[in-house]
Amino acid sequence: MRRPDVVDSVAALRAQVNGWRRDGLRVAMVPTMGALHEGHLSLIRIARKRAERCVVSIFVNPTQFAPSEDLDKYPRQLTRDLDLLATVKADLAFTPTVGAMYPAGFATRILVGGPSAGLESDFRPTFFEGVATVVAKLFLQATPDCAVFGEKDYQQLCVVRQLCRDLDLPVEIIGAPTMRDAHGLAMSSRNAYLDEAELAVARQLNVILHKTAAAIAAGAHGDDTTGEASRALIAAGFRKVDYVEARESLTLAPWRRGRAGRLLAAAWLGKTRLIDNVDVPIA
Ligand code: PAF
Repeated sequence: MRRPDVVDSVAALRAQVNGWRRDGLRVAMVPTMGALHEGHLSLIRIARKRAERCVVSIFVNPTQFAPSEDLDKYPRQLTRDLDLLATVKADLAFTPTVGAMYPAGFATRILVGGPSAGLESDFRPTFFEGVATVVAKLFLQATPDCAVFGEKDYQQLCVVRQLCRDLDLPVEIIGAPTMRDAHGLAMSSRNAYLDEAELAVARQLNVILHKTAAAIAAGAHGDDTTGEASRALIAAGFRKVDYVEARESLTLAPWRRGRAGRLLAAAWLGKTRLIDNVDVPIA
């Protein structure tokens, strides 16, 4: 299996993408922060079905970390990531340095409204500003035809869609279903921080969300039910629940009966914060 070529400058990235485009090839991008796992590989498999060439960016983006979040401890394992990229036949890895992405004097931030309100933003107020800024940069650097984002980070997916719509970025955004283990636990780099006992608790997150979504769809009152879900998560062993909320699935406006919905949650297990979301079926 051949590792993808690696470029770390925008000039080299553009030269490669422009060459593909001259040959009439469609280009997909999968933005990542590395520490790749099966969830990322599933995004790349989808990208390869939707385009002839696939660029994967690996960049731990400092602007989406709050000072309290440990940017330095975020896992960096480029050699392993490149080996994994070889298994899914990614064509190019883009690995810019922090200095190249944010040179001295960099002073621009992109604020996306709409779907960024509440949920993650209540607990990580500058997170989506950092994500929107880096994703816009990556799209302008790589000029992909399409890009794949996981539904695991559902609010992020909605924010990126809004960003592209509002700024007329000509990139088709493809949402990919969450990869789960045999017990339904959503795959995440953070699962590596959990011991066996914590994993058993973590697996209750999707179980409780599915039960709650079914109860809401069957007519239970949204706020009462999400309150019950928070209590069920604490009873299952979670230390703290940041939110359990039903939202409209396209806009992330507060959910109203009869509309397509999404139930989203974030909860702490020891020092690890897990997020997940499930569909609220239309009854
Ligand atoms: O989901 C992620 O890994 C990051 O938020 C992203 C989209 C790569 C931007 O840094």
